[in-house]
Formats: sequence, C-alpha cells, structure tokens
Amino acid sequence: MTRRKLIAGNWKMHGRRADLAWAANLTGLLGAAPRSDILVCPPATLLPLMSERLPDFVATGGQDCAAELEGAHTGDISPLMLADMGARYVITGHSERRHGHGESDAVVRAKTMAALNAGLTPVVCVGETLDQRRSGEAETVVLRQMLASVPEAAAGRVIIAYEPVWAIGTGMHASPEDAEAMHRAIRNAWRDGDGEQVRILYGGSVKPSNAADFLSRQEIDGALVGGASLDAESFASIIRAAG
Ligand code: PGA
Repeated sequence: MTRRKLIAGNWKMHGRRADLAWAANLTGLLGAAPRSDILVCPPATLLPLMSERLPDFVATGGQDCAAELEGAHTGDISPLMLADMGARYVITGHSERRHGHGESDAVVRAKTMAALNAGLTPVVCVGETLDQRRSGEAETVVLRQMLASVPEAAAGRVIIAYEPVWAIGTGMHASPEDAEAMHRAIRNAWRDGDGEQVRILYGGSVKPSNAADFLSRQEIDGALVGGASLDAESFASIIRAAG
C-alpha cells in the first residue's frame, strides 16, 4: 500500500498580514508541485488571504474548529466557516488544545465529527507526555486517545498526527524508530481494520536537519511542523526531504 506523504505546517498563534509574503516565497522555492501533499494551517484570521495567495497544490487548513456547525457559540469557529474560507483540512486535538484548553477525547471526537460533516479532512493529534513515556505507558495512552478521538468508520477520511507532547516546541524529538513503532501500533489498533490506509504524520521538533530521518521511514507518512514551518525556506526544505 502506498500512502501519499503530507507535509503540514502549523503556524499556531503566529502571523499577521505582513507575514503573507511567505506564500509567494514558498511557491517560488518549490517551483512546480512536489510529489507530496502540502498543507499550511495559519491562524484563522489569515486563512482566506493565505488561501487566495497559494497555488492549488498547497492546501490550507484550520488549527481547531467548533464541535457544532452553527449556533450560539461566541468566539468559536465552525468547520463550515473554515471550508468557506478555502480550508480543506483542520487540525483537531492538538496537545495545546488538550492541555491548554482542557479538551477531552470526547470533545476532540465531536470536533472531528463536525469537521467531517463540513467536508474537511481532520488531522487528529495524539501523543503522550514525558511522564507517561518514562513510566512505559506511551503506547497505551496514545492508542486510548486515538480510539476515543476518532469517529468510527473514519478510515480514509482522517489523518492522524503522532506528536509526543514532550517533543513539541522543545527541540527534543522522538527517535525515528520510536515514532515508527508508535505508528505501527496505531495501524494495528485501528478499529475497522483499515489501519494500512491511514496516513500517520509525525510531529514534534521536525526541522530541515532531521526531516529526512523521519520521512524516509516506511511507517511515517509525513510531518506536522510547527516552528520550522514559519520560515518558507525551512518548510520548503522539509518538503524536499519528503522526496
Ligand atoms: P514544533 O510543533 O514543530 O514547533 O515542535 C509541532 C506541532 O505542535 O504541531
């Protein structure tokens, strides 16, 4: 089974209008469409402007969405609204949402369902903390999160991002072997038995100097890149590392 690679950038709470030159820079650096799928998730305020400035082969996505499609939810952004602004994907369950905003697996699942209902492809994040890894619970925690956060029968419609919490924004990263082992465990545990077709990204301090180590691995179908996606040159070099 060949799964197309996806290189995704997550800008988090960075980026204002002045940073939109990134789009032209990236397009210039890439030249033609690369072999992998490319995605950038800017802050919601930049989504429409970014979507307009990028060529078709670079998709845009949201970083989070509401669990409902419409209604009295002050401050929330519906996945339908993201789609309306050109988004094709949305990240759900990022650890900064799970830990910083207390989002449970049930909330992540509802958001993921809403995203699917809005026609978006959710990128569902899972990952263990350092304590959980040290105490040997990493796999149990990640599989529990995955099974509880992904709606049933969603194989082929969701992407998983394995992001160890301790590796996000810290400069520390999982070894490619540990990441591969976790990706394999996720596939084996996939509830409808379709694990082989699920694209699983690794995230956590991916940068130009280590991207090829991850992206050359059989089990690793791409990367979710935070800090290094803010610079067009380093993001382009990670994309090139995907082959
Ligand atoms: P990082 O973030 O690449 O800056 O570690 C990854 C993420 O949070 O998606």
